[in-house]
Amino acid sequence: MTSRRSRRARLIVSFSAAVTTCLTLASTASGDPGQDDLAATPPMGWNSWNTFGCDINEQLIRDTADAIVASGMRDAGYRYINIDDCWAEPERNAEGELEPHHERFPSGIKAMADYVHDKGLKLGIYTSAGTRTCADTMPGALGHEEVDARTFADWGVDYLKYDNCNNQGVPATERYAAMGEALRATGRPIVYSVCEWGENAPWEWAPDVGAHLWRTTDDIKPAWDTGNTDDFPMGVVNIIDANGKLAEYAGLGDWNDPDMLEVGVYDVEGYPGLTDTEAVAHFSMWSIMASPLIAGNDVRDMPENIQRILTNREVIAVNQDALGRQGAPVRDDGDREVWVKELADGSRAVALFNRGGEAATITTTAEEIGAGPAARYVLRDLWTHTETETDGEISAEVPSHGVTLLRVKPKR
Ligand code: GLA
Repeated sequence: MTSRRSRRARLIVSFSAAVTTCLTLASTASGDPGQDDLAATPPMGWNSWNTFGCDINEQLIRDTADAIVASGMRDAGYRYINIDDCWAEPERNAEGELEPHHERFPSGIKAMADYVHDKGLKLGIYTSAGTRTCADTMPGALGHEEVDARTFADWGVDYLKYDNCNNQGVPATERYAAMGEALRATGRPIVYSVCEWGENAPWEWAPDVGAHLWRTTDDIKPAWDTGNTDDFPMGVVNIIDANGKLAEYAGLGDWNDPDMLEVGVYDVEGYPGLTDTEAVAHFSMWSIMASPLIAGNDVRDMPENIQRILTNREVIAVNQDALGRQGAPVRDDGDREVWVKELADGSRAVALFNRGGEAATITTTAEEIGAGPAARYVLRDLWTHTETETDGEISAEVPSHGVTLLRVKPKR
């Protein structure tokens, strides 16, 4: 296994054309397959599962692509339109290939790829590293990795989410390496999203099987706190606790994936959904954790406040920052936490996170967040888009289940 540090170093070097040859040799010699810049920053897009489950069809995909463009989400950075479980016929065809579901995707998946590509978007698809997918409506790819990867590439697919159900007890590293190899063999650039729920510490091996991102927890639901630390279903704070411990494993091209966004997802499976304050906190924390931003709401019918959250470019800029750091907590006073993410321009993103049931004042200092010595600092609030100055103390009144997200810079 190659070390993450050396892999990241190579990724950075890859931006220099002058050393391309050396780099190729080094990459081949080390056996590190995932080295590319397909997901240099955390992938952004949309996925059908959180709102629609198995109730998907080709019109939904076309309308969603249209809405991603019309809502400004594409121009804010959302690129991947990802079709989750239930898109295929229940059995393979006579050639052993997957077939798009005859009734729900009569035009086929290639037609979906062509449609989204025409709009400057990319297409993602889903299957499981098992004999059947999780919803058990279609075959999985275990033992069929080559033919399925080839099918996806032929259709023009750009992203694969590879799940963990019905895996027959085959070790995860073997199953995910087989698909990584098959994807690479197609020659098509395909983002590889490992979805084994953090069961086998994928942060330790997923980069070496070519993955760009890997789920760190069980499935999210539109809930603040389900009380589960590591079981289905997980709420927003439960996932933050698990994923927040893994900051050292993230970096350019390699992302911890704390599951898809529940911003604007309401009334699903008995969950009423997050409050607006909770949705802002969820989006802020996914941004500071450099998490993939995969929206899960019905973007065809999106309230303005939800659109504003999902397209807040200042918050997205924190998530997509070129340094590729995952933010981490520097202070934990019970329900009051301070999280910091170092940014490429030397500034710091700071999340003042109130997990408690009452509004609270949360305080830190420029020194504690590592903002560097200066006489004055500029604090930019990334949700109100306003600036204040301080000589060191950073403090805000934060609503219950809320986040105040700041960008802190020394004043020059
Ligand atoms: C698993 C995954 C989910 C979703 C479903 C589909 O539970 O973790 O994200 O893809 O399967 O069945």
